[in-house]
Amino acid sequence: MLAAICPALEHAPELRDIPPPPLAEGQVRIAVAAAGVNFADTLALAGKYQEKLEPPFVPGMELAGTVLEVADGVTTCRPGDRVMALVTGGAFAEQAVAAAHDVFVLPAGLDLVTAAGFPVAYGTSHLGLTWKAALRPGETLVVHGAAGGVGLTAVEIGAALGARVVATAGGADRLAVALSRGAAVGIDSRAEDVRARVKEETRGRGADVVYDPVGGALFEASLRSIAPNGRILAIGFASGEVPQIPANLLLVKNVTVIGFNWGAYRRLDPAALRRSMAEAVDWWAAGRLSPHVSTTLPLAECAQALDLLRRRAITGKLVLTMG
Ligand SMILES: NC(=O)c1ccc[n+]([C@@H]2O[C@H](COP(=O)([O-])OP(=O)(O)OC[C@H]3O[C@@H](n4cnc5c(N)ncnc54)[C@H](OP(=O)(O)O)[C@@H]3O)[C@@H](O)[C@H]2O)c1
Repeated sequence: MLAAICPALEHAPELRDIPPPPLAEGQVRIAVAAAGVNFADTLALAGKYQEKLEPPFVPGMELAGTVLEVADGVTTCRPGDRVMALVTGGAFAEQAVAAAHDVFVLPAGLDLVTAAGFPVAYGTSHLGLTWKAALRPGETLVVHGAAGGVGLTAVEIGAALGARVVATAGGADRLAVALSRGAAVGIDSRAEDVRARVKEETRGRGADVVYDPVGGALFEASLRSIAPNGRILAIGFASGEVPQIPANLLLVKNVTVIGFNWGAYRRLDPAALRRSMAEAVDWWAAGRLSPHVSTTLPLAECAQALDLLRRRAITGKLVLTMG
């Protein structure tokens, strides 16, 4: 099968013909039609992701395709089913194997390119906002990196939950995407004072919940413009800067900072993750979510795809197709 292989850390992936991975107990083999590209793939290739992959490895953590075979005893899907799946590396290839509890059968009408970019972004934002942050209707939700993969789904899910969404992104074009997906207000994080603008938009009170996949200066601005009793969901550090948190600021305003590593719930609480994913898919089926795959590229252009993500040139999701 053709696969993108990372031969060594800090090396661009190379297209190679390799044997398909073996099918182990409890697993499902999938003919991959498309794979979602995540910022975390760029971290994995640099050896900086929390789940280390040893070179040579096939990157990619989410995919969609058709089930080819299932291990004995697997009952959640069957050969021929259209599915989306999570894997710990291995998605950027013509075939992948996934644990049965990480495979989700698709409803009719959810196409494989859209589905390939669905699980990580919608899964993270849905479980993070409904459960971890317990976002309530009428609250103000600030979403940073709101034009990016997870950020844009947080905008949609926040709006679907009845929150007033304030989006930050770098530039008017990127903000326009967030506004088209339900944000009420856009703040240009490259040109405006985010702390002052959040205060202004909330009449001095501050945001109730912040969804932060960027970190660095935006986290700092969030900490200083959050309402009393506010919750900050620490989702990621796309800026490359991991914030240090002065505990006195948390104490004075009764602020809660919530660390959220969604992927860890594949092991910690797979049933909760599956329930959340099923609800996100139901919301899609009901027309409440509009996935935005802005760019598709063939597997052979995997290295260019990762570069586009690093250069912040993508809105919504970038998807590789196996062709
Ligand atoms: N906690 C979890 O379970 C979980 C799940 C998924 C993703 N994440 C994390 O969330 C972050 C975003 O992931 P993603 O896949 O959504 O990435 P993405 O699509 O590339 O979006 C990241 C956004 O961050 C903004 N950004 C600000 N500074 C940046 C910089 N120096 N380099 C790149 N982007 C920068 C960009 O928006 P502007 O250019 O508009 O500023 C970009 O749209 C990553 O750190 C990822 O690891 C965490």
